[in-house]
Amino acid sequence: MRASDKAPAGAGAAVPDDVEPGDAVQIGSPVQVSRYTAAARVNHWITAVSLVLLALSGLALFHPSLFFLTGLFGGGQWTRAIHPWIGVVLFFSFAGLFLRFWKANLPAREDGVWMARISDVLSGHEERLPEIGKYNAGQKFVFWSMSALILVLITSGVVIWDQYFSVFTSIEQKRIAVLIHAAAAVFAICVWIVHVYAAIWVKGTIGAMTRGRVTGGWAWRHHRKWLRELVGSPRRAPSNDPRTITK
Ligand code: HEM
Repeated sequence: MRASDKAPAGAGAAVPDDVEPGDAVQIGSPVQVSRYTAAARVNHWITAVSLVLLALSGLALFHPSLFFLTGLFGGGQWTRAIHPWIGVVLFFSFAGLFLRFWKANLPAREDGVWMARISDVLSGHEERLPEIGKYNAGQKFVFWSMSALILVLITSGVVIWDQYFSVFTSIEQKRIAVLIHAAAAVFAICVWIVHVYAAIWVKGTIGAMTRGRVTGGWAWRHHRKWLRELVGSPRRAPSNDPRTITK
């Protein structure tokens, strides 16, 4: 059972899993809701940049027709040398995101209904959907599939990283690892495209990751359960600003 199931809004005893540190409502016109701290945003954008660079350098090595992409990294040898290190940055950076966001991405009862009503999601009939916590089932899918894929990518990547690990692996193991590595990379790029498309498609979402805030209307429309939990578990902000309700 999740903390959110145990603590009804307003009970104030347990902080729901969906409410993360820094989440806060600022009463004003319009109402603003803090969704990501500056540290979480920096962590996210390091992850995003490293995934893009990783995909470009990986594609450059994947097929001769894409070899021209090595020009972005200073040539073929540099691309081959840099690619695994970007992977290491992505791994640790995503690990930071994982530790921040895993709780709010735990499955919730409304996820099944959200998935069953995916046609209403796509046609914008959110009034037919249940109230959603900080993340919907689609966002949770992105989170958990990226977690699994990045783990597969780093593991298979180490197996084929000859410069440091060739003595520990056989040619047979490397052949299998190359196949798994390429397949995981293709899936990760597809998941990334879905993630970016959704972020742009749902108006007002990008601001969550640039400014750290969304409007009260955005939160009410897309993540009403989270907003209710946030307002229902009020504690004074460190600033003692009476207009701020925070975790
Ligand atoms: C470069 C393009 C990217 C853009 C424009 C982008 C945009 C966003 C936006 C706007 C949010 C906030 C969504 C919300 O709060 O509802 C978000 C959240 C998030 N992003 Fe990205 N992102 C990008 C790349 C990535 C990459 C490469 C990863 C991981 C490998 C990633 C992982 C996440 C995670 C884990 C969250 C939190 C949502 C959750 O936990 O389900 N993002 N992103």
